[in-house]
Amino acid sequence: MNKSAIVTGASSGIGLAVSRILCELEYEVFGFGRDFTRDETVSFAEQSAGFHPVVCDLLNTQELCDAVKKTVKESEVCVLVNAAGVGYYGLHEELNIKQIQTLVRTNLEVPLILINRLLRVLKKNKGYIINISSITAKQSSPHGCAYAATKAGLTSFGNSLFEEARKYGVKVTSIHPDMTATNLYRDADFTCESEPESYLEPEEVADMVRYILSLRDGMTVPEITIRPQLHRIRRKQNLKDK
Ligand SMILES: NC(=O)c1ccc[n+]([C@@H]2O[C@H](COP(=O)([O-])OP(=O)(O)OC[C@H]3O[C@@H](n4cnc5c(N)ncnc54)[C@H](OP(=O)(O)O)[C@@H]3O)[C@@H](O)[C@H]2O)c1
Repeated sequence: MNKSAIVTGASSGIGLAVSRILCELEYEVFGFGRDFTRDETVSFAEQSAGFHPVVCDLLNTQELCDAVKKTVKESEVCVLVNAAGVGYYGLHEELNIKQIQTLVRTNLEVPLILINRLLRVLKKNKGYIINISSITAKQSSPHGCAYAATKAGLTSFGNSLFEEARKYGVKVTSIHPDMTATNLYRDADFTCESEPESYLEPEEVADMVRYILSLRDGMTVPEITIRPQLHRIRRKQNLKDK
């Protein structure tokens, strides 16, 4: 069986860029997401024989566990990249309950469940768990308190799991990207500034995955933080602005 990887959020942004790199590295990539109909995802999927889109709502736990079970049966999973995530921002009292639940479930519960389901296989394969956390895990984040809390939880979990799993050969890394030019800010009243010095490209975040996988056996990087040179955001005139 070919070595394979599971990537959540593979239909867009950072997860899609990570999937590209893993395909280049000749992994069979099982990319979990809901909507694979966006132009760039369609053209990537068409050109990459090693990419297998798995249409799955990660918040449907039964659907998620069934899809993982099927993937593990079909392939030798060596890499799990948790990239799926949602962002809701604003004063905390302005978030609605559904948004808070979706943040906690998507950004924290789903990676914990996936890792729980895959850890035995990853121990057997001396594999990699790479969580796309966020710079907000490392600092206070007004107007993003709930989002940042989910990411701090994910990083905390990753650091504990690193210690728990290291003796089994499993490598656990949390990546903390700053502002990255993706669709994450679709519902926010701000987005990336236009100067390239003020944001990261999803491919640059994905390159960290390439770096992690390039390290010699016996060396690991538990945390990576990457930031653009400048700290700038752009306020949207209205929410439909990109
Ligand atoms: N952009 C940034 O500035 C930034 C900075 C730091 C960290 N991050 C983190 O990077 C990760 C990737 O985000 P991104 O920036 O690439 O944003 P994005 O382009 O909006 O991608 C988010 C991905 O998550 C998937 N997803 C969300 N909810 C899902 C669900 N219920 N079921 C299945 N898939 C679901 C989406 O799939 P569908 O669209 O198919 O539903 C999409 O593929 C997130 O964890 C985010 O928190 C982003």
